[in-house]
Amino acid sequence: MKKVQQHYDEVADVYDDRYDGRRGKCYHRHISDHVMRELPKGGFLLDLGCGTGLFVQRYVEEGGRAVGLDISPGMVRHGRQRCPESGFFVGTADVLPFKDATFDALASLLAFSYVPNPEAMLRECFRVLKPGGRIAVCTLSRTAFTSIVPIAYQMGVKVGLKKVGVGDFDEHYYTNAEIAELFEDAGFEDVSVSRCSFAHLNLADPVFNLARKVEPFVEEKLPYLAYNVCAAGKKPEN
Ligand SMILES: C[S@@+](CC[C@H](N)C(=O)[O-])C[C@H]1O[C@@H](n2cnc3c(N)ncnc32)[C@H](O)[C@@H]1O
Repeated sequence: MKKVQQHYDEVADVYDDRYDGRRGKCYHRHISDHVMRELPKGGFLLDLGCGTGLFVQRYVEEGGRAVGLDISPGMVRHGRQRCPESGFFVGTADVLPFKDATFDALASLLAFSYVPNPEAMLRECFRVLKPGGRIAVCTLSRTAFTSIVPIAYQMGVKVGLKKVGVGDFDEHYYTNAEIAELFEDAGFEDVSVSRCSFAHLNLADPVFNLARKVEPFVEEKLPYLAYNVCAAGKKPEN
């Protein structure tokens, strides 16, 4: 976890550049749309692995209140600048400094793969949600492609590649069935897992455009394509 924290502290000042260009904006907006759709509007949200506060800002703009928690003090500093009215906490997603039944909504975007103990994180999410509260987690799913990502990242580290999110962080990816089981074991009901975005953000333009065009037709046949999924559930009313 220390490595992840150090990495995000190092890239905190340039993290938002990734999502500032046309493609980056479109990509993050797309993911946020999926997550928003799964959550109650106008409630009190906790965003885990909140980074620079992009989703906290979105939830507040849509009429809610929100706080964020992230393991990287550097990212949290940017979150505080972006949304001075919201609370930002430094901490790890599997030990939450909040009372039981505090939140109406729980989100986590592009951070779940870093959490070493997803069972503990989901237990904590369940605890801090109010009965009837909803959770939505967007994360890279496990495919033939993402199974080799850790090796590619290890090589990247060896050649000194310092890109946002690229490093040997012992990330974990899950198939749709695995993530659904994690949610159900934590006690959530109405669990769904849906594909929410093509994840090859780093491809050069012509290849990216071509891959996006053909992806809907070949995604089941070419499992090496990487995509994010949005897993969602509800804490039972009683
Ligand atoms: C790819 S960034 C995503 C940031 C933000 N959610 C977004 O959508 O822009 C991953 C974030 O997860 C945070 N993170 C990684 N492991 C974490 C953990 N165990 N607990 C809390 N945050 C964590 C990192 O510090 C980083 O800010």
